[in-house]
Amino acid sequence: MKQVRDHYFREAKREGYAARSVYKLEEIDRRRGLLRPGLRVLDLGSAPGSWLQYAAERVGRQGRVVGVDLQPIRQALPPNVTVIEGDVFELPPERLMDAGGRFHIVLSDMAPNTTGIPSADAARSARLVARALELAQAVVEPGGALLAKAFQGAELPALRAAFGQAFETVTLEKPKASRSESVEIFLLGRGRR
Ligand SMILES: C[S@@+](CC[C@H](N)C(=O)[O-])C[C@H]1O[C@@H](n2cnc3c(N)ncnc32)[C@H](O)[C@@H]1O
Repeated sequence: MKQVRDHYFREAKREGYAARSVYKLEEIDRRRGLLRPGLRVLDLGSAPGSWLQYAAERVGRQGRVVGVDLQPIRQALPPNVTVIEGDVFELPPERLMDAGGRFHIVLSDMAPNTTGIPSADAARSARLVARALELAQAVVEPGGALLAKAFQGAELPALRAAFGQAFETVTLEKPKASRSESVEIFLLGRGRR
């Protein structure tokens, strides 16, 4: 991961967050009001752990956060967080629900190992978004939400349409903390049908 020591990087360090990515989630959450005390949250692609830290604070002790990543998470986390080390393509929805019940919201900041070939990277990212959507349809309560990082590319319109089938409203979110040169963009589906 490219690590430019910009404002957000220094801020994350100062505030004790594992990564600068936390400010993307914080910004979307502030704008859209996604997280609140008592919610159950599934976070796909959690390492090194800043979204888990933020979500755990927001949902509080009555809430619950389950994180999944291929990589181990070294960040110390509060007791309302459970971490599963694994591949989202191999984990069945039941395993996720065993850890957290049915969820109110699924977050995905998953990113593929990039090749530098934009079309190949966008295709890999699209598979991760499609899997996040498939899992969300299995584990999210009716009325719930999915926020997933996507790449702007040929697959985005189809992904957006698939979100539209599953959710009442779909918006594209590009937080300021996401570098302007980055092709990443977040798809937000709300009101699971
Ligand atoms: C940008 S990082 C997530 C950063 C995290 N949101 C944070 O704030 O600390 C993307 C993560 O997606 C994970 N990932 C990619 N493919 C995955 C898969 N198939 N299953 C689970 N995790 C995956 C990577 O291991 C990586 O840790």
